[in-house]
Formats: sequence, structure tokens, C-alpha cells
Amino acid sequence: MRVPIIAGNWKMNKTPSEARRLAAEMREELERIAGVEKVLCPPFIDIPAVAEVVQGTSIAIGAQNLFPAPSGAYTGEISPVMLKELCQFVILGHSERRAYFHEDDSFINRKVLAALEHGLTPIVCVGENLEQNRAGKTEEVVSGQVRGVFNGLSREQMLRVVIAYEPVWAIGTGLAATAADADRVIGQVIRPVLSDLFGEDVAQAVRVQYGGSMNAANSRELLERENVDGGLIGGASLKANEFVEIVRIAAAVKGCKG
Ligand code: 13P
Repeated sequence: MRVPIIAGNWKMNKTPSEARRLAAEMREELERIAGVEKVLCPPFIDIPAVAEVVQGTSIAIGAQNLFPAPSGAYTGEISPVMLKELCQFVILGHSERRAYFHEDDSFINRKVLAALEHGLTPIVCVGENLEQNRAGKTEEVVSGQVRGVFNGLSREQMLRVVIAYEPVWAIGTGLAATAADADRVIGQVIRPVLSDLFGEDVAQAVRVQYGGSMNAANSRELLERENVDGGLIGGASLKANEFVEIVRIAAAVKGCKG
């Protein structure tokens, strides 16, 4: 069965001392919740502080990006080898990186391969924007992204990946996708493409999160859906109580399957 996974994407928020406080505020309560994988993804510079706070707990750390080379003359970038000392996960292909930093599927594909090569679990984001959604192109866009970002992965590598379906129009807008729509895109677009590429057993085993204005109030309905294996939480992950509550709901809804 697919172990549910809730990750907090802190985006470009919190100084190192603020990050330390936020992680400390969540630590005890998160640690009490079993059956759900819990991941905090702070900005690079906050990672050491958060890693120190969660050391020895079941809480994992994720980065928000990497550069696909082990080391070298890439000013301002961070490599998977560097991340590996402090992180288990890395968010890749987030729509904000696609939009503001012009990342395309083939570059994201290189990052996914680099993460896997160095033993990091990539959380790979896909999702259509508002214009594409309105034009009825969700299926075409999302299946194209899945084929692009996972190009060349082995079945074994694909099994280690987590996917986040994040419709761009739902991110930071307070307007989440309906549970039915999230379930439909994951179950009828993402898993069938995975099945085509890697086989039905892989398609059924890979975990797919929903992301986009997910919060304590709407997470139960989303997580109750068969195909929604967790959440990638932005704004609501910056509030300790709210993030803990989402993890609690995931455990209540999915925990028995974990
Ligand atoms: P919000 O939860 O703030 O909409 O952000 C979602 C997201 O982009 C997570 O990666």
C-alpha cells in the first residue's frame, strides 16, 4: 500500500532563527503521529537549523531545488551531494521554478535523475495553468509533463519518486481543486501515463500528492480520495497548528493503509 506523505513547502519564507522556531513548534506533535511520512522543506539556508531541531525524530527534511551536477563552477547553486548530508527529499519542477526561472521538462528531468543518483527522493511537481485548464488541455499538459520529467528512469527509480499534482491556478489562490477533480487527474491521467511508461504495478505503487491551497479545512475531503496519497502544502505549512492538523487528518483518513 502507498504510505501517505505530507510535505510542507515553506517556499522563500523564514530566516534561520524563525525556521528553527517553527520546526521546534511542530516537532513534538508531529512526532506523535504515526503512519504518515512527514517532510519539512525549508529554504536552503534554513536547512541546517531545521535538521538540528528534527534530528532523531521521524520528521524528514526536503530541499526546494538542486542543480544537476555533483559539484563545480555553478555560482549560486546547490548540488545533490551537498543536500544529501542533511536532506532525504527534494522538491523539483515546482510551477514557480518553471514560471520564474524558465525550467522546462528536460531540465527538470536532469534534476530528477541527479536526485535519484545521489539517493534523494524527488517530489516532482506537475500541473496545468488556468489558461490550459480553461482550454480543456489539462490531460494533454499533465501527461506531457509526466512523460518529459520521467524520461529515461528505470522502473526501480520511478518507484522511489513522489509526484505532486499542483494545478497552477490553485496555488496560493485559496481556491483548491475539488477532491473529485484532483482524484480524476491523478487516477485518470497521471497513473495511466505511468502505467504506459513503467507498467501498471509501478503506476499503482507511486505516491501522488495534491498541492494548491490545501489546508486543515479542505484536506479531509481531498485525502479521502483513493488516488490522493498526501499533500504538498504551501501557505498552511507555515502555521504549526495547521500543518500538524493536516498530518493528523492524513493519519486518520489513510493511516490504516500505511
Ligand atoms: P499553497 O498551499 O500556498 O497554495 O502552495 C501550494 C504549493 O505550491 C506547494 O508546493
